[in-house]
Amino acid sequence: MIKEELKKKISDKTACIGVIGLGYVGLPLIVEFALKGYRGIGFEVDTKKTAEINKGHSYIVDVTSENLKKCLDTGKLKATTDFSQLNECDVIVICVPTPLRKTKDPDMSFILAAGGEIQKYARRGQLIILESTTYPGTTDEILLPMFEEKGLKLDADFLLAFSPERVDPGNPQYQTHNIPKVVGGVTKDSTEVAAFLYSQVVNHVHSVSSARVAEAAKLWENTFRAINIGMANEMAKVCNALGIDSWEVVKAAATKPFGFMPFFPGPGIGGHCIPLDPHYLSWKARQHGFDSQFITLAEQINSGMPKYVAGLVRDALNESEKSVKGAKILILGVAYKKDIDDMRESPALSVIDLLRSRGAEVVYHDPFVPEVTFDHAYTIGSGEPLFNAELTDDLLKSSDCVVICTEHSNVDYPRVCKLSKVVVDTRNALDETLRSGSKAKIVRL
Ligand SMILES: NC(=O)c1ccc[n+]([C@@H]2O[C@H](COP(=O)([O-])OP(=O)(O)OC[C@H]3O[C@@H](n4cnc5c(N)ncnc54)[C@H](O)[C@@H]3O)[C@@H](O)[C@H]2O)c1
Repeated sequence: MIKEELKKKISDKTACIGVIGLGYVGLPLIVEFALKGYRGIGFEVDTKKTAEINKGHSYIVDVTSENLKKCLDTGKLKATTDFSQLNECDVIVICVPTPLRKTKDPDMSFILAAGGEIQKYARRGQLIILESTTYPGTTDEILLPMFEEKGLKLDADFLLAFSPERVDPGNPQYQTHNIPKVVGGVTKDSTEVAAFLYSQVVNHVHSVSSARVAEAAKLWENTFRAINIGMANEMAKVCNALGIDSWEVVKAAATKPFGFMPFFPGPGIGGHCIPLDPHYLSWKARQHGFDSQFITLAEQINSGMPKYVAGLVRDALNESEKSVKGAKILILGVAYKKDIDDMRESPALSVIDLLRSRGAEVVYHDPFVPEVTFDHAYTIGSGEPLFNAELTDDLLKSSDCVVICTEHSNVDYPRVCKLSKVVVDTRNALDETLRSGSKAKIVRL
């Protein structure tokens, strides 16, 4: 029985773990297994990434180069672009991107490519796990037929499961080992072995009855966030219209010890998950004749936030008898969230786009992001790249408006308040003390 063979190999740490896709999800995972004593092979299409890993240089915020070197020194880790080595692996975990097409339909090409490599090199006795976020049914409808086509029989020759990733890049409190892991296999044996595997590196594993349930659980989690952020953004607009401080309101509401969970407004949503994942669910629901209205509404509100912020900038400049056209605007923070360098789907890009398309001269400062390119389909501005500007006194003084899009910790906010003329704070980066002592006019979301 391959179930018993695999469990034995996992238990005595002779199992070789292959991870396909060494990004924010795949690299921390393979390093966790290698640190626990498993031999790990990382498969990547990006040769720069494999070279960096094999030199012991980490490009992911949650993985230290020190840990990477430890794994290389013990011979427990290597990265490669040679997919024929998939044949050596007892376990193969797929962690490739799941973006959207321009039409907002799921782009399954990365999963298909990874599945194709496994199809080529798979052998009897392997456990294959999909971790990429995707619509319910992907594991059963796309991956399973690919491996069966090769003549392999489920349970007898291979096991197949889905286990969603919940990594929160840059969160020091929750890392791979202490984030509970949901596991759903295509068969009972698949669930059992996949759960056993993860229990070696994760404190708590929660097994569910099928891969579909696990796929849906991940989308439920992220749709919950997208919708609640949408509500926080709507509430911020309501509070602004009523002249009430939305941040004070949400903090007050959050003192309720049950039945309320705070979500905060902002310039929009970013990253590879929250803006994308709900579309995977609504797309699949549409195939079954169901229109998920909450998802559509949240998407409309969240994607409208950059425009709302551009409007706040316009109004603030107007108060100083200035127009957006020709104004010097400094964007503080362009990564999609605090203290990380991830620019994927960052709403700051849309804010910059909108302001540039209206004739503003935009520069940015972000200690984590040296350069910003505008090759995204939604670019409506001039599209020229921007480079990180040093946050000098002169820059602050000469800017007509400073817009805080991301509240990185290592920014000198007291100096921002002292030297700027107008600050639009979309993240509540400036606390009460800073605001009350500020010389700048401060506008908050
Ligand atoms: N980033 C997060 O915070 C996060 C959290 C939970 C879940 N996820 C999900 O995990 C998946 C991966 O996300 P990520 O953030 O790690 O993406 P990423 O872009 O950081 O990493 C994916 C890696 O896969 C590589 N790749 C692409 N095609 C490949 C192929 N055919 N073979 C081998 N490598 C290939 C890319 O070069 C890249 O290095 C996505 O489905 C995402 O939705 C991400």
